[in-house]
Amino acid sequence: KEVVVSGIRPTGFLHLGNYFGAMRNYVRMQNDEKFNCYFFVANWHSLTTHPDTRELQSSVHRVIAENIACGLDPDKVALYIQSDVPEIAELYLYLNMLAYKGELEKTPTFKDKVRLQPDNVNAGLLTYPVLMAADILIHRAVKVPVGKDQEQHLEIARNYADRFNHRYGEVLPAPYAFNYGGELVKIMSLDGNGKMSKSENQMNTLYLADDADLIRKKIMKAKTDQGPAEPNSVKPDYIENLFTLMRLVSTEDTVAKFEADFNASSAGNVVIRYGDMKKQLAEDMAAFMKPISEKAADIQNNKELLNRIIRQGADKARASASATLKLIRSAIGMDYS
Ligand code: TYM
Repeated sequence: KEVVVSGIRPTGFLHLGNYFGAMRNYVRMQNDEKFNCYFFVANWHSLTTHPDTRELQSSVHRVIAENIACGLDPDKVALYIQSDVPEIAELYLYLNMLAYKGELEKTPTFKDKVRLQPDNVNAGLLTYPVLMAADILIHRAVKVPVGKDQEQHLEIARNYADRFNHRYGEVLPAPYAFNYGGELVKIMSLDGNGKMSKSENQMNTLYLADDADLIRKKIMKAKTDQGPAEPNSVKPDYIENLFTLMRLVSTEDTVAKFEADFNASSAGNVVIRYGDMKKQLAEDMAAFMKPISEKAADIQNNKELLNRIIRQGADKARASASATLKLIRSAIGMDYS
């Protein structure tokens, strides 16, 4: 079977970008016989930006609960917490010897973080992609379901696998970013500026936990315009994004109707009514989110169930991780006993 790995940082509630960029693929891959899946909560990664850990434990539990509410089955996959697998930290150490400072400093995500937190440019932030490579390579994964924003990190992980194999012998396969639909997904922020993210203005991000009222408020405020001036125009990004969201949660007929309205628009005679479109989208979105947020809240309150899932996930992940680490130690020549 092909090994699949992916992780989510527990830095807040999960949003639609996380869902459609990553989690939807997790569920599809778990149900595909071809794959052996490892999904985890990247709590070490969150320390690079969130050193205050007061809320971390409940966030970690929340992410586990949301993963299950979205359809992940802890009996079919390994669902675990990064810090429960110390083998990852050992591989991180080895990979750090193959990672170069200049290269890491050029990573766009590092440059962004330096801008966002100039007072805390810690080494963990610099070596973020090294830890991420360790997460992936520890299970010898080949497919990594992620959103488009993670593509460069995957390229870096492939580099390290390659360097390791070159120096110590073929142990690590090359991992690739993956999405079922082909192209990697990027859900944009509702104001049309950049990707939807946890750190951004809360009104521009739709969280899986948002209730119907809040969803409506946010979607009705989403950026639109007067409609296309010509029939069959190319959609601006922020309009395309609304259609993307609609395709994800509405029926095909609904999407087809608004697509037709958009394409029928012509100079001075705009057919599409974005107000109606957004109302419909808000309704369908709320219907989509409700069962997920209810189920997530139930699971999060069931500490016994959560603990059982977390322990079971750690056991599965450590079995796989220690098998890889054994190969790695032996390739490096660190198997003394
Ligand atoms: P994180 O926690 O920022 O996001 C989790 C997943 O959600 C995807 N995503 C998006 N996809 C489409 N559109 C968006 N607007 C959007 N926002 C987020 C991300 O691409 C990701 O798949 N570095 C990773 C966590 C990580 C990881 C790993 C991932 C650590 N180790 C190993 C895969 C493999 C991150 O910060 O994701």
